[in-house]
Amino acid sequence: MVQHLITFGFCLRFLLAASAQHVQTQALDSVYQAYNLEFAFPSDVERDRVLREGLYDPANVIPIDVDVYYKHGDPTPSIFVTIPRFAKGVPYSLAYVTNEMKPNGTLLQAYPSYEWHKTHGADCNGLTSVYRTQIDDCGRLWILDSGEIDFVQLCAPQLYAIDLENGQVVHQYRMPKRLYKEGVSRFVMPTIELDSRNCDVGFVYMADSIGDGIVVYDVAAQQSWRIENKYTYPHPDFGTFTIAGDSFQLWDGTVSTTLTPHALGVKRMMYFHSLSSDWQMAIPLDVVNNGSNWKLNDVSAALDQFVVLGKRGSQCVAAAMSETGMLLCGLVKPASILAWNTQTPYTHQNLVMLIEDEERLQFTSGLKIVRNHEGKEELWALSNRLQKAFGAGLNFKEINFRIQKCGVQELLSGGPCY
Ligand SMILES: *[C@@H]1O[C@H](CO)[C@@H](O)[C@H](O)[C@H]1NC(C)=O
Ligand SMILES: *[C@@H]1O[C@H](CO)[C@@H](O)[C@H](O)[C@H]1NC(C)=O
Repeated sequence: MVQHLITFGFCLRFLLAASAQHVQTQALDSVYQAYNLEFAFPSDVERDRVLREGLYDPANVIPIDVDVYYKHGDPTPSIFVTIPRFAKGVPYSLAYVTNEMKPNGTLLQAYPSYEWHKTHGADCNGLTSVYRTQIDDCGRLWILDSGEIDFVQLCAPQLYAIDLENGQVVHQYRMPKRLYKEGVSRFVMPTIELDSRNCDVGFVYMADSIGDGIVVYDVAAQQSWRIENKYTYPHPDFGTFTIAGDSFQLWDGTVSTTLTPHALGVKRMMYFHSLSSDWQMAIPLDVVNNGSNWKLNDVSAALDQFVVLGKRGSQCVAAAMSETGMLLCGLVKPASILAWNTQTPYTHQNLVMLIEDEERLQFTSGLKIVRNHEGKEELWALSNRLQKAFGAGLNFKEINFRIQKCGVQELLSGGPCY
């Protein structure tokens, strides 16, 4: 009888594996997991003050992005985390993960320093609220600050670049008023376009997910413009998000932009999508980068240049591009990492679910492909169970926040992660 059960168990596993043949990798490697975020403070007095004044509410802190930097030859990376100020109660909005273990998770430390976050929007020469960051190939951390807390626009949206080798601010940009909508806009993701041969920054693309647009910043020319039309908006069929049985509403437009890698040597595109939509969009990058195409408030500007590549049937949150032109995204349903080779049509045969994990990929809002100390590409993902945070509330007896990773080659070939 026991023998029989074992045989049956074996067959069942085989059948499940056969019916879900797209799912290859068993699990991503866990790097960080937390019941709740643990924040370091300059002193206990300061911690007590922010708790008392409602500037720190432990029940109200949700990380959404991860970024990773390997210093020359060092196998241990710096891991950055963003904690947007959706509401009051977030003591700082950008942090790095320390080595110190605490009961609820590894201790976080403010970045660049506690001072940068301390005024909660009163001093705009700091950071008000950070949704996502991007580290460029020249070791600079680009920080997109939405400038608002719960849609109160305390400062203009702004962008900082910090050289991670020496901690110096190497660039700052403040968005002109005409390019954002006060009380509506929420800038959630920067994408950096470098010249292929050196570290000169060409363009920065900033996704305005609630204002439904993309602001393009031409760094050398010191000019910027806004792209907004029906393709940068959400779609009513995808305003409800269901994750592990819990549903919630999000009504967000453009959340992510990615670019064709220089190395492919093909006509370059900007790929983008709205959070509350299942459409995968693209537009030639030279059209995006030519400011004379984009008159303010002209919703028909260059409209014939936009391509609806396909519809995937569920929402993607964050996305990242590999050096080989594979576009990866955190799919909502089923909870998984989805891959598409940008040199093939966006059809269901060409959409590959690399890993499905209903437990550990609950709302993958942070996704990065970074190069490690050996030059090898790694995928890093942050998940945060946003369905619970925005719904009934997080249960702090369970793991709520995770950072996981996998070598991109291993992930694409279905092997175990390392
Ligand atoms: C862990 O987080 C929960 C929820 O915020 C909190 O109630 C608890 O005090 C924390 N535990 C410790 C040891 O900090
Ligand atoms: C930019 O676009 C305009 C049309 O909007 C076109 O006339 C011009 O040639 C373009 N410039 C470049 C450098 O492609």
